[in-house]
This record gives sequence, structure tokens and C-alpha cells, in this order.
Amino acid sequence: MKKALYLGRNYIEWGSLETDKNGKLVSACQDFCAHFSINESDWLGVAIKEIVQKVDWYHRKNVFFGVVFGYSCLVRIIESNQHYVYRVIVREDEIDVSEMISFMNSIDTTKMKKRTLPKKLYSFEEIIGVSQTIDQVKELGARIATSNSTVLLTGESGTGKELFAQAIHGLSSRKNNPFVAVNCAAIPAELFESELFGYEGGAFSGAKKEGKPGKIELAQHGTLFLDEISELPYPAQGKLLRVLQEREIERLGGTDSKSVDIRIITATNRDLKVLVHEGKFRQDLFYRLFVFDLKIPSLRQRKEDILPLAYSFIDVFNEKLGREVRYIDFKLQEWLLEYDWPGNVRELKAYIERGMNIVEGDTLNLDSLTIQINPSIPAEKQSTSLKPLDEEVRNAEIKAIRRALTETKGDRTQAAQLLNIHIASLYRKISKYNLKD
Ligand SMILES: Nc1ncnc2c1ncn2[C@@H]1O[C@H](COP(=O)(O)OP(=O)(O)O)[C@@H](O)[C@H]1O
Ligand SMILES: [Mg+2]
Repeated sequence: MKKALYLGRNYIEWGSLETDKNGKLVSACQDFCAHFSINESDWLGVAIKEIVQKVDWYHRKNVFFGVVFGYSCLVRIIESNQHYVYRVIVREDEIDVSEMISFMNSIDTTKMKKRTLPKKLYSFEEIIGVSQTIDQVKELGARIATSNSTVLLTGESGTGKELFAQAIHGLSSRKNNPFVAVNCAAIPAELFESELFGYEGGAFSGAKKEGKPGKIELAQHGTLFLDEISELPYPAQGKLLRVLQEREIERLGGTDSKSVDIRIITATNRDLKVLVHEGKFRQDLFYRLFVFDLKIPSLRQRKEDILPLAYSFIDVFNEKLGREVRYIDFKLQEWLLEYDWPGNVRELKAYIERGMNIVEGDTLNLDSLTIQINPSIPAEKQSTSLKPLDEEVRNAEIKAIRRALTETKGDRTQAAQLLNIHIASLYRKISKYNLKD
């Protein structure tokens, strides 16, 4: 809930920002981050001019009208030793026209656009899926979220591990504090320590004069997401373990240590136990990280999610590309359900995006996509070996029901007629096979 300080009928204090004497952001208070839905860490070091667009001075010195992330605000600057504090008050009343015009004239709109929409983190509701499997994982994830424990997310690439990390953070008591993501595979080994732990000015040649906070420091009171943790170089593993044990951190070249309060979520698509066995991953660190293990199933293990996901991506790209696609043609549906998606949801999303770029009309269809896709379109006959009869029957039923629902554009009464079964029976089967979308 917003904790806002009422200052009168039309004004609410929405928190404050602090800059160094050069106008670079050094901190944003929790309330500010919550009200404007931003991550402090995304903005540290950014010039205050980019965040607070000054429009006009208000009666007194040190108080001005401005725009902060698109909101009309009154801002008061308070100078304290070496720092400036910007207290931001959002106006609740309607902005009057002349004020609006002066806003428009004074705002550098290109900069505003780039910066006004801070990256929003995914929530559990935005993790699409109707399968029982994904439901269970979401439920478990939500339960884990409220604890403060370390979480290890495992699953193939593209299954949504990062989404889960964000959703867990968003449901935790740390949600108004930073979520800092680090992809361990993307940082060269020699830069690891300075990236994670930061450094003091002059710690090594090429270092910034004023030093630099590490990701751990930036995640203070929030969540540090270490993606592809298996790629963490061995020496850095030891240092990370020490941080977890001692809850303290020392910058490179520094002498004093700061206490850290972070929650760690890690993700990997490799089997860490095997890496421990091979001596590539420290066992002691593994046990620290392995408190909760959340396995995200591959897409081929939850085929019921394929079409709901495909339709949700159609919505996304309809919006982005200005299309009006509403249907997926039956042949393409079948293909989507048969394909085994080694790249999981990421691959499905890319596939739909490609289709949305070339589609004409309101239906995505296989013919227009075939030329572009992987050579491995399953040929009906050779694709799968025969399964036990009950499974074959079940698959045939699912296929028939899907087809009936597509052909009747979701009208269940008509679909039941087409299949020559009672409507109640159709409802039961839809629910049994989780075919709602
Ligand atoms: N259940 C889901 N609902 C909606 N989008 C998803 C879902 N799972 C994955 N995605 C999308 O797939 C892509 C890959 O997800 P990501 O979390 O980066 O996967 P991973 O970290 O496991 O490789 C992202 O673009 C994400 O938006
Ligand atoms: Mg990832």
C-alpha cells in the first residue's frame, strides 16, 4: 500500500531522491521507488536532470514544478553536506492547460520516452499457463516467495526461470527494494569480482576514480538474481560463499566491510550436482543455494500450455505490430502441439513473432510459416512410435475436441454437436484435459 504523506488537499509527498554534488543519483527512498514503480539500481548514477525534468520555479527558491516519470510534481531541493535531497510532491489536482503547455515545451520528450517506462517486473499472474504442472510450480513459488530463503531455479533454457525470479521478488517483503539480475555467463572471469563486490577508487588501473558499487551492494535490502550460476568462476564461488556466511562485503581495494542484507535467487539449466561431483562447483556453496529447489518444467512436458501461450504472444505482437490476428489455423495448432520445443517458451515466442511479421489477415497459418521454420516438421507418420492404447485414445480425444472448438470458434454447444456427444460430456472432457483457454 502507498504510504503517502498528505501535505494539503492537493499534494502528496511521494518520497525523495538524493544526489551527489554533481547531480548524479546516489539513492532513491523506498517510497519513491514504490510510487513510481522503479528499481533504485536501474537509476543509480543517472543525472537528476534525466529523472526530474524541471519546468518552472515556484514562488520560492529551491522549489520548482517538474515532471517525474510523467507525473506533475512539486520538487523541493534541500542541500545537505555534499549532497542534494530532492523531495518530490505529486499534485493530485488536475493539471491546468497553461501548465501543461509549459511542460510540453520544456520536456525533452525523447529522453522522457526512454526513461519513463522503467522495466516492469513479471508477476505470477503474468506467467501464462493452464497446465496442472505450471500451476503447481507457481503455487510453490508463491509460497517460497514469502520466506527469505535462497531459491535455486532449475529448468531448460527458455522455460521462464527469470520470470519466476522476478515474480518471487515481487511477492516478497523485499518487493519495494531492488531486484538486481546478474548473468554469470555474460561476465568475463577477470571482471567477476569487481562486478559483484565493487571496488574502491584506484583499486586497479583502469578503475573509476570514485570507485564503483558491486551488484551485491546495489541489491541491498532487495534480491540478487544470479542467472546461470554454474558459470560462476571457482574463485568467485568462494567469495560469494563468504558473503553468504558472514553477511558482509568488502569492495576490492577497500578496507572496511559493509553488512549486506540480500536475498539470493539463482538459476541454472545444468545439473549442479553433477558439476559438484566433477569438482567444478563448490559443494559448500551448492548446499547454501539449494535450500529451495524450484523446477520449471520444459514446454514439451506441459503441452496444454502451448496454445494459451501462443495466443498470449499473439496479443503481445498484435499490440506491438498493430495487427489484428485472432486465430491460429488448425494445421498450425497441430504442428505447435507436436513440435517438441527444445528452446521452450522463448522459442515459441520467437516463432509467433516471426509469424506475426508475415501474416496477412486474421489467422496465423502453417503454410505461411513452413518455409521459415526448422526443418524438423514432424511428419505425421514417422514422428512418434505407438503409445499405450489409453494414451493414444486420450491424445486422439484431445485433438478432436481442439479441432471442434477451433472450427466452431469456441462455441461449446456447436462443438458438442459436431462431435456427437452430450454437452455435459464435452465440459467434463475439457476440464479433464485442461483445454480451457
Ligand atoms: N509462462 C510464461 N508466460 C509468459 N511468457 C513466458 C513464460 N515463460 C517464458 N516466457 C517468455 O519466454 C522468454 C524466456 O523466459 P526466461 O525467463 O528468460 O527463460 P529462462 O531464464 O528460463 O531461459 C521470455 O521472453 C519470457 O517473456
Ligand atoms: Mg534466463
